[in-house]
Amino acid sequence: SSDYLKSLVDIEAGRISPEIFIDEDIYRLELDRVFGRNWLFLAHDSMIPKPGDFFSTYMGGDPVVVARQPDGSVRAFLNACRHRGMRVCRAESGNTKSFFCTYHGWAYDTAGNLINVPNLSDAYKDRLSLKDNGLIPVARIESYKGLIFGNFDATAPSLEEHLGDLKYYIDGWVDQVEGGIEVLPGVVRWTINANWKLAAEQFAGDTYHAPTSHASSLLSFGPAFEGKDGAHVAFREGHGESFLFKRHTRFSEDPLSVYNDAKLEAARDRVGDRAEFVANFTAFPAFSGLPGSSNIRVWHPKGPNKFEIWSFTVVDKNAPPEAKKAMQVSASFTEGPAGVVETDDGENWGLIGAILEQGHQARKMRWNYQMGDYPATGHEEFPGAYRDSFFGEAGHRAFYRRWLEFMTSEEWPVLTQEERDAFNKPGA
Ligand code: FES
Repeated sequence: SSDYLKSLVDIEAGRISPEIFIDEDIYRLELDRVFGRNWLFLAHDSMIPKPGDFFSTYMGGDPVVVARQPDGSVRAFLNACRHRGMRVCRAESGNTKSFFCTYHGWAYDTAGNLINVPNLSDAYKDRLSLKDNGLIPVARIESYKGLIFGNFDATAPSLEEHLGDLKYYIDGWVDQVEGGIEVLPGVVRWTINANWKLAAEQFAGDTYHAPTSHASSLLSFGPAFEGKDGAHVAFREGHGESFLFKRHTRFSEDPLSVYNDAKLEAARDRVGDRAEFVANFTAFPAFSGLPGSSNIRVWHPKGPNKFEIWSFTVVDKNAPPEAKKAMQVSASFTEGPAGVVETDDGENWGLIGAILEQGHQARKMRWNYQMGDYPATGHEEFPGAYRDSFFGEAGHRAFYRRWLEFMTSEEWPVLTQEERDAFNKPGA
């Protein structure tokens, strides 16, 4: 019930019960109320440029196919045949004119229409309506600067309204050079035995783990950073971001640093101080990125205590090939499944998941989310609820505040501008 959920998530006190990371009933409700109603990242334009290009992914637990249409628009549908629910697209990506179900042979065009049924006249006596048996469409598809999102809820506010002030920080990444970004081919996927929200909250602002969890890898990157080297921002829509103002690197001669240094002045002209940010963010609920580290990712839930990480390498579209290559190497060196940074995170999450899986007393405790629990300091240039320390958990609390609103609302929980303004106000 709502009262039970509210007893588990106390934002004001900064206390959260780990039941929300392990309970099967909460997980089922989450698939419906969080994943069934929110904007979920599907693909980037550059991944499906031509008509017939498709990409298979998930929205929450559900498999979906995203396909470029002949008119250039994008559609997505449940990857499940209307006859018996079989997967109609078994490839990860490619180009096709139709999707063919390998169980009994129904076929659908790239718009999801049922176009062929074997034995239509002798088995069905022509009584089957093709029109009524198309693939289940994803109700809404919208994109922001090439990032394509889907939403199963036709009543949801627009993607741009949902992204809110986070757009300013996304722009600071994707608008640095003419032509914007592209996503390189190849998705790296791996599984963690823990709840997906542990990863989402970390990217929403858990910079505090880095000096400890990543102590050894940070040694190789450069001097350790401190709170004053950056800031963290919370967004009423449930997003979080934190950033270092300046890049730390000791590899000044590598092609990526050479490229970044060469573009810096022009990038500063386009996006100001954001050109130098090394950031992490989560767009509520399950899309995260590492501006400055060439990486975006989606957290796909696979059960209360299991999720898949899908990691994509992002590069400037017009960067020279050697810089693109360097970005790819850098991304897998740090953030790939065997990356020097990523393995630390996976180990933490998996060990927490194991405690919750087996534990009984451990599930009764309340975890601490109190860091950064001071009034927003605000910033004249940077929107959102800005706090002037790189370390803080305001983004986590914003994430769980929004999560609780979705989990306890029958109707789509609309936010008013007054609520946003009050949240962002310096001193609030
Ligand atoms: Fe697809 Fe029967 S399940 S044709």
